[in-house]
Amino acid sequence: MKKQNYLFILLCLFLSIHTQGQAQNQSVAKQIIKVESGDLKLTLMVGNDDRLYQLGFGAKDKEIAAPTGMPSRESEFLPPYGNGVITEPAVQATHTDGNTSTELRYVSHKQEAVSDDIQLTTISLKDPAYPFFVDIFIKSYKSTSMMEIWNTIRHEEGEGKVVLYRYASASPRFQSSQYWVTQFIGDYSREANLSEERLSEGIKVLDSKLGIRATQMRIPSFILSVGQPARENEGEVFAASLKWPGSFQLAFEVDWEKNLRVLTGINPIGAQYYLDRGETFTTPAILWTYSKKGKGETSRQFHHWAMKYSVRDPQKNRPVLLNNWEATYFTFDEKRITGLFDGAKQVGAELFLLDDGWFGNGEYSRDHDRQGLGDWQVSTKKLPSGLSYLAKEAKKRKIGFGIWLEPEMVNPKSELYNKHPEWIITQQKREPILGRNQETLDLTRPEVQKFEWEIIDNTLRPNPGISYVKWDCNRYVTQPGSSYLSPQEQSHLLIDYNNSLYRLMDKFANGFPNVMAMLCSGGSGRVDYGSLHYFHSFWPSDNTDPLRRIKIQWGFGHFFPANTIAAHITRMGNRSLKLAIDVALSGALGIDMALDKTTAEERAQLAEGVRLYKESIRDLVMRGDLYRLVSPYEFPMAALSYVAPDKNKAVVYFYQTEDGKVPSVKLNGLDASKKYSVKEINLAKGTSSRFTADQKIFTGEELMNNGIDNPLSAQAESAVFELKMVE
Ligand code: DGJ
Repeated sequence: MKKQNYLFILLCLFLSIHTQGQAQNQSVAKQIIKVESGDLKLTLMVGNDDRLYQLGFGAKDKEIAAPTGMPSRESEFLPPYGNGVITEPAVQATHTDGNTSTELRYVSHKQEAVSDDIQLTTISLKDPAYPFFVDIFIKSYKSTSMMEIWNTIRHEEGEGKVVLYRYASASPRFQSSQYWVTQFIGDYSREANLSEERLSEGIKVLDSKLGIRATQMRIPSFILSVGQPARENEGEVFAASLKWPGSFQLAFEVDWEKNLRVLTGINPIGAQYYLDRGETFTTPAILWTYSKKGKGETSRQFHHWAMKYSVRDPQKNRPVLLNNWEATYFTFDEKRITGLFDGAKQVGAELFLLDDGWFGNGEYSRDHDRQGLGDWQVSTKKLPSGLSYLAKEAKKRKIGFGIWLEPEMVNPKSELYNKHPEWIITQQKREPILGRNQETLDLTRPEVQKFEWEIIDNTLRPNPGISYVKWDCNRYVTQPGSSYLSPQEQSHLLIDYNNSLYRLMDKFANGFPNVMAMLCSGGSGRVDYGSLHYFHSFWPSDNTDPLRRIKIQWGFGHFFPANTIAAHITRMGNRSLKLAIDVALSGALGIDMALDKTTAEERAQLAEGVRLYKESIRDLVMRGDLYRLVSPYEFPMAALSYVAPDKNKAVVYFYQTEDGKVPSVKLNGLDASKKYSVKEINLAKGTSSRFTADQKIFTGEELMNNGIDNPLSAQAESAVFELKMVE
């Protein structure tokens, strides 16, 4: 064969293979949709069958090759149940004609810039056989590598209702050899402990079935590490948090080929939703962020996102509180409270927060937790001059005044319950089960919605001196039944409740924009970004023993910024006052002590802690970047720091959680080339620093490479350092 002929044949062969490849690619992918958010990229493909497949979810710089063959049905982005998909479905519905299967095909998509930082991607899907529509929404926040994902479901099918059994908020898929998940587990008084495990084939479900509060045992947030366990400053890590105050389900399914799908959303157990023609069901959003530099960075990304887009008044300093709960419980009167105001002023607190026990009269006086809840009239026995008098007395001492509310609850021993026994959530024909001696009011009922708003409005409107509210919720639902909803709608109860709760919280936040608010739920039952949106801070635990609080605050800090984590100095655990102060100085500071029963020396110690907080620490707690330095899960101590955004200042905390020695602690997040003075602060009176670094100057590089030598070794020892840049 002539050389030219030979070359010609080769060229034809190449072209034919090439065009075949192209044809194959064309036949596989109709289009690729990319959603980018900082370092995180989601790559989706509309297949030639019009299904929406996920090609990748992870590092932005990772090239995702277009597949040469059709992806498996299991890689659909939102896998529907009943027509081919055999893994956990994200969407499961029974159509009005009884068909239990759903197909979702791509219809259209759009990507719009909401701001310089935010892009909104909307992808519309439809069942080809039914007027059944799912829209996927992805809000991507460039500056924090955050994606917020949710869906809406709607139908225009004929008579009857479509029943939704599954409605995941999102279900991204991962492909790796190993996956490690960290959950934040615990119980009342020992919340948010880290527990990490390797996922194996099958489904691991982390959930809550508490109905009206996301958590007691576990928060709706987790860390997912790909390839190895999550590390603080390196490795690929995802962190996610569901914006929902009710029962949730986080399901991790590793399939037979080691692909992982993570389905997150409302817990579908007992919560099938009967959807009317034209009605829209909106899932809560799940927040996903990503880093190649470990979980330290995912935490900071969450904090930055929260400060920009979530918590209320992010720039407003959280006031230093004096709370009376552990000081008095239910036993107080006007004189005791105003006496505590004097103490508050003396130690430099900025606001007095009057806790539970200020309401209820006659036989239902709220003298303990067995009665009075629901009767929101000021106790004439304890506070005969009323709330406005207390607010005025506080003002005279130049401190603010705040109040505790629990609008959603009722004690059976109350006037309210006598009048409206039908208002509670319970199951017919069952013995009501109480939680903390109380029942939950059914917020799906319009009269209850009105009543709960009036509790807030009637307390705050006539008393403009009240500038702070602690909103509590001391039980969860164990018998989800409503005498208001129809028999078919019983399974809507907990979803409708939480949507009504959002409306109530929204009305409160908008109706009283100058009232600051703490989210509380018998400790931290409602720590989720759905509710936190209406609040300034949250109460992490009724366990205020500083030694126990170290880990609790450490856990929540993985997702929530320090200025939202209320941290009070108390007597619990009988630890040294220094430890109690040092631990509380790392959050939104408060005190919960009977100041009228403290010694002058103790009050001076508290006053010094508050002064330091206001003068040099609060700004860093409010606006600094968290660096976790030594984990109490690996060592007998915890060390953390907040570094100012311009890296000119930092505060560093050492807490000895056990006996044992960590000889030096390397700092992080500083500017290597800057020089910093190191000063130990909040030293116990009459003592001098045992740290060789105290009062010395180091470069950021030295502090990050060599660290601070640490003489501490006994459980409950602690130290706080102030770092300042020197010229
Ligand atoms: C539970 C909270 O966690 C406490 O701080 C306190 O407010 C009590 N409720 C009051 O009943």
